[in-house]
Amino acid sequence: MNHLFHLKQQDRIGWIGLGEMGYSMANNLHRYLASLHLNMTVWNRDPAKSAKLHHHGAHVAKSIEDLVAQSNIIFTSLADDAAVEEIYTQLIDLAGQVDHSIIFVETSTIYPALATKLYKQLSVYPQHTYLQCPVFGRPPVAKAAKLIWVTSGDEKAIKKMCLYFTTMSKSIIHLKTTDVAKACNFKLLGNFFFVGTMELLAEGLTLAEKADVDQESVLKFIEALFPAPTWLEYSRKMANGDVSHTEAGFSVDLGLKDVGHMQKLALDSGASLPTADLAYRHLKMVQDQGLGGQDWSSLINSLRSASALPEILPQYPNEKEVFEGEEGVQSNKVGAREV
Ligand SMILES: NC(=O)c1ccc[n+]([C@@H]2O[C@H](COP(=O)([O-])OP(=O)(O)OC[C@H]3O[C@@H](n4cnc5c(N)ncnc54)[C@H](OP(=O)(O)O)[C@@H]3O)[C@@H](O)[C@H]2O)c1
Repeated sequence: MNHLFHLKQQDRIGWIGLGEMGYSMANNLHRYLASLHLNMTVWNRDPAKSAKLHHHGAHVAKSIEDLVAQSNIIFTSLADDAAVEEIYTQLIDLAGQVDHSIIFVETSTIYPALATKLYKQLSVYPQHTYLQCPVFGRPPVAKAAKLIWVTSGDEKAIKKMCLYFTTMSKSIIHLKTTDVAKACNFKLLGNFFFVGTMELLAEGLTLAEKADVDQESVLKFIEALFPAPTWLEYSRKMANGDVSHTEAGFSVDLGLKDVGHMQKLALDSGASLPTADLAYRHLKMVQDQGLGGQDWSSLINSLRSASALPEILPQYPNEKEVFEGEEGVQSNKVGAREV
């Protein structure tokens, strides 16, 4: 413990990007560091979100430059490839101007080629390290520190970072590769299983309604035969008409980004991925209606509309369940399971 404490004392952690995922992740990490009387520095484009963490005791950087000057570990959680590229263009430039070494931990869902590009650009400065470590789990899961992390990059740096990953996650999947593109491939594959499940459920539930099959019985059947969290969660959401976006959800806009990446990955790898094509089309129809902010399970409305059924209208329930994404693993602060 003393050894770990000394290690952490040397670490000065910075966090960029306090959106729905980033805020909860950073908040959990900050709480852990604060328990050791260590501080964390944050920066977000919209300063209101940084102010929220400042209220909990985190230090707010005046600028990205300020954050780089103060940190030797920098986490990023940003919306999409354009945001990641924009921020890393600045980070890499600034990294070239500082004397200390920095480990960058990029957690966003981005296209693998971008991770490779950033890794290569940063490798001009061999004292710095770039890790690509995307996460699985929606915002409430991030809040409950139950994310699943996927790691790629320098092994020694990952080992050191695990001290921190565990404060935000329930398990860590080590890909054991220095090729940072591999974690992006893995993340896109994982999200393909989510969106594929949703497409299947949306089609099945639409058929059930058209063919006059009792919906409660369908849900019971799913519960009995497909009791996986994703099946249970999305079938309930769609059947209960709960597809509006809240903090608990994942937006159609971000979903389209991910499915677009899956399609490109399939094309680049020479794989056929027809379910992604269908899901993309159905998500796009929702976005084209100006509803890109809704939860991506609202793709069922494209199926309903094509089947002459009324669309599910937004609902705003008070509370959402925490969908763990994996069964039987307890919430934890330190000590995430490594797989
Ligand atoms: N939501 C999920 O369920 C989920 C799950 C796993 C992984 N992910 C991935 O995690 C990442 C973050 O997702 P999220 O749900 O937290 O998204 P989000 O709520 O939309 O937050 C996006 C963050 O990116 C920042 N940002 C966007 N464009 C920027 C720019 N040009 N320059 C600087 N900052 C910029 C935003 O800053 P502002 O606050 O100023 O807008 C915000 O901090 C995404 O890559 C997503 O695919 C999401």
